[in-house]
Amino acid sequence: MTTDELPLRGRRFVVTGGARGIGAAVVRLALAQGADVAFGYHRSADQADALCDELHAAYPDRRCTALHGRVSDSTGAEKFAAAALDCLSGGLDVLVNNAGVNQDVVFARMRREQWDEVVDTNLGSMFNVTRPLVMPLTKGGKGTIINIASASGLHGAPGQTAYSASKSGIIGFTKALAKEVAGRAVTVNAVAPGFIHTDMTDMIPPPQACHLKTLIPTGEFGSADDVAALVCFLASDRARYITGQVIEISGGLVI
Ligand SMILES: NC(=O)c1ccc[n+]([C@@H]2O[C@H](COP(=O)([O-])OP(=O)(O)OC[C@H]3O[C@@H](n4cnc5c(N)ncnc54)[C@H](OP(=O)(O)O)[C@@H]3O)[C@@H](O)[C@H]2O)c1
Repeated sequence: MTTDELPLRGRRFVVTGGARGIGAAVVRLALAQGADVAFGYHRSADQADALCDELHAAYPDRRCTALHGRVSDSTGAEKFAAAALDCLSGGLDVLVNNAGVNQDVVFARMRREQWDEVVDTNLGSMFNVTRPLVMPLTKGGKGTIINIASASGLHGAPGQTAYSASKSGIIGFTKALAKEVAGRAVTVNAVAPGFIHTDMTDMIPPPQACHLKTLIPTGEFGSADDVAALVCFLASDRARYITGQVIEISGGLVI
């Protein structure tokens, strides 16, 4: 590959929830484009190890480390952040806050613990992980934070009150932090996927998935690689003048 094809050469990434789904696609593409990556997992230890093995074999000159990190828990997240910095020689250039969960249930039947799990994981992790990493990010001269929100956070989705609220919170967080850190050459953006093929959407019963595809102008769910391409673009120098934005990637779900 030429230098032009390695737009992330030498860039140090921290990715939460990197063992599977969208997070794993980001880890793979970032390594392929020249980055070093420390990524977190919670339950998927075997998948995390397998991903590291695959990427060490493909890119022996680049660092790829899997670290346990339960980002909904402040102590677990702090340990993860410290260990990630350690692996990346004390600094980072890109933070991808990707870890997330959903608990789809109509609001009238939602239990408090379901609400708490979704909000603590999706929104609480923004504090738990970003807080210890934001100052190290400002030290390299330029840095990027990319938060994985959702089209549900922009438009709301029935059966997803907690999820939509947590993802809307990520959007507010993104815009406020972008204003705070712009003067330190750190950009902060959110990516808002629509329906993307991962374990999260595999839970949708096939008849409902068929119906949902009729609502998407392109007629299909997106792939984790589609989202990873956008994330890696936002992490590259080509996106240096983009900050505080929410970029929807949904096949035109809402136009
Ligand atoms: N798929 C979609 O259609 C879609 C649409 C919009 C937004 N998103 C967002 O995209 C992100 C990735 O989702 P996905 O589709 O790739 O889903 P997924 O395949 O279900 O993956 C979820 C990821 O989050 C991690 N995670 C969950 N709870 C965690 C915790 N407490 N601590 C640390 N990690 C945790 C999981 O790690 P372990 O497996 O190690 O536990 C896993 O890597 C999420 O923020 C999701 O809300 C997805």
